[in-house]
Amino acid sequence: MRQGLICDARRDYGTRTLNFSTDKDIQAVADVEQLQQDYLARIADADLAALEEIRIAALGKQGAITGLLKTLGGMSAEERQDQGPRINGAREAVTAAIAARKDALESEVLNARLASEAIDLTLPVAPSPQGSVHPVAQVMDELAEIFADLGFAVATGPEIESGWYNFTALNMPETHPARAMHDTFYFPDRNAAGEEMLLRTHTSPVQIRTMMGQKPPIRIIAPGRTYRSDSDATHTPMFHQVEGLVIDKGITMAHLKWTLETFVKAFFERDDIVLRLRPSYFPFTEPSAEVDVGFTVEKGKRVIGGDPTGPNGGWMEILGSGMVNPKVIEHCGLDPDEWQGFAFGCGIDRLAMLKYGMDDLRAFFDGDLRWLKHYGFSSLDVPTLSGGVSA
Ligand code: DAH
Repeated sequence: MRQGLICDARRDYGTRTLNFSTDKDIQAVADVEQLQQDYLARIADADLAALEEIRIAALGKQGAITGLLKTLGGMSAEERQDQGPRINGAREAVTAAIAARKDALESEVLNARLASEAIDLTLPVAPSPQGSVHPVAQVMDELAEIFADLGFAVATGPEIESGWYNFTALNMPETHPARAMHDTFYFPDRNAAGEEMLLRTHTSPVQIRTMMGQKPPIRIIAPGRTYRSDSDATHTPMFHQVEGLVIDKGITMAHLKWTLETFVKAFFERDDIVLRLRPSYFPFTEPSAEVDVGFTVEKGKRVIGGDPTGPNGGWMEILGSGMVNPKVIEHCGLDPDEWQGFAFGCGIDRLAMLKYGMDDLRAFFDGDLRWLKHYGFSSLDVPTLSGGVSA
């Protein structure tokens, strides 16, 4: 009978609640070593879920070993002296075995994960990555690289601007004729502050945001999308510009000219580049200059560089520039007697066309895969000054 009880208890300890409360049952502890051995054997094979089941079955509130521990209270002092260490020993052995098995399983899981997530950095990358970098994005990366080397940071601003940032702060008051010349896309409604809202017509408002947002000295370029209501082979309603701005003490036109020459030489990767500064007018610069670059005709194509005064040479305009108008500096809360600077603005799409030989701007934005494959750049060819900016 007793034997039967013990056997039953052993076989079912995974699922059944044992309740040792009688003298007879106390004898069950005779087999506590066997119980312990069985648990240890099951623990050795258990996975994490089975382990938790075993823990509850053995050591939980209703567990088999917990049940045995409860029987100690009903024993005589001698019995307790004899059984106490055995039952407690079983509890400790099972607890320790569960903890050790859990540790082992968890580190197995971790090791498997580490092994499966390992990346072999020495393997060659996929030889032909999908997709390509658009020439406009490529040129923007090249500009950032060239100007970073000259100490310029990249600044950005919103494409939806207020009239104040796009015009007024740049010395183009409401009545200024230049405001109409911009073919601006206006929004039908004003913003909450009652300001007229528009798609920025140039990147120059980033000058204002930068001067208002940070303390001089300032050296930034601001590449980005710009919008004007215009469309033909060399104009699209959305196009790209890069703005340059330097604000510091004692800045002169000489700094502007050197910076532009250094930039154009680095961009076209030629030393025989000549610039010509022509007096011009922009409301936000005084004096202002339009900048032409010398080209020569090679095999029927215009190439930047060479002697513009020679038989195959000529000039083409590439950007607008000047000394930042003191009124603009003042609008930004700076003292123009203390701070001066130069600025320039340049069409990025045109730079890309000149450098990489495309002749229709509209193709830039058609999304034709054949064009993108032909003119696009590999995402792995990051422009660097040391490795060549054009990849
Ligand atoms: N914002 C002018 C335009 O879109 C370009 C420009 C000219 C920017 C002269 C400048 C500058 O910063 O100094 O036509």
